[in-house]
Amino acid sequence: MEISLIFAQSANKVIGHENKLPWHLPEDLAHFKALTQGQTVLMGRKTWDSLPKAFRPLPGRVNLVLSTNEALKLEGAITVNSPKQAIDQANEKAKRQAASASSATPTPTLWVIGGAQVYSLFMPLASRIEVTEIELTVDGDALAPVIDDTWEEVQRNRHQSAKGLGYSFVSYRKISQRIEHV
Ligand SMILES: NC(=O)c1ccc[n+]([C@@H]2O[C@H](COP(=O)([O-])OP(=O)(O)OC[C@H]3O[C@@H](n4cnc5c(N)ncnc54)[C@H](OP(=O)(O)O)[C@@H]3O)[C@@H](O)[C@H]2O)c1
Repeated sequence: MEISLIFAQSANKVIGHENKLPWHLPEDLAHFKALTQGQTVLMGRKTWDSLPKAFRPLPGRVNLVLSTNEALKLEGAITVNSPKQAIDQANEKAKRQAASASSATPTPTLWVIGGAQVYSLFMPLASRIEVTEIELTVDGDALAPVIDDTWEEVQRNRHQSAKGLGYSFVSYRKISQRIEHV
């Protein structure tokens, strides 16, 4: 199973403000839906709270919500209390997927969908990051995780939204550790 991060950020690396997305970009929501459909998504409890009620749980996906509150019950979502519990749940789903896999089945993936706290926790465990770079500068209180030089940009596609906003879909892969023999 692969662990992947997916997020959208402004030009000044903001991902959220007052527990909301600071923009409305339907093209990005469609991209997010296409990538995560049929898979397991993991979000922090604050991101769950930020979703409009009509969109939670995110349909067609196993929804995992990370919280320290062991008594938390959420309709349509599985509450997990540690990163390990989240990975165990996603592995269960991946095993079920593998049992019914065809050549067209995408790699079973745990999609980490935010917010800032949960990205930081899972960045060291991930092998793929999908970022939407939005050409806006906005105020915000939640920032994107830093993508350091252990990551390689492998794809970049620029688009313009129906409303004229520029944005790019950017893909990163973790550079595999090379052992130097001297
Ligand atoms: N631009 C994007 O792509 C994007 C995507 C998603 C979210 N966002 C934005 O990000 C912001 C929210 O991010 P955030 O960092 O404030 O919150 P968050 O990561 O969504 O959730 C934080 C919560 O996760 C739980 N948690 C964190 N670490 C944990 C651990 N080790 N064990 C158990 N539970 C743990 C805690 O829940 P409890 O308090 O219940 O214990 C904590 O309060 C919002 O503004 C949202 O709009 C942006």
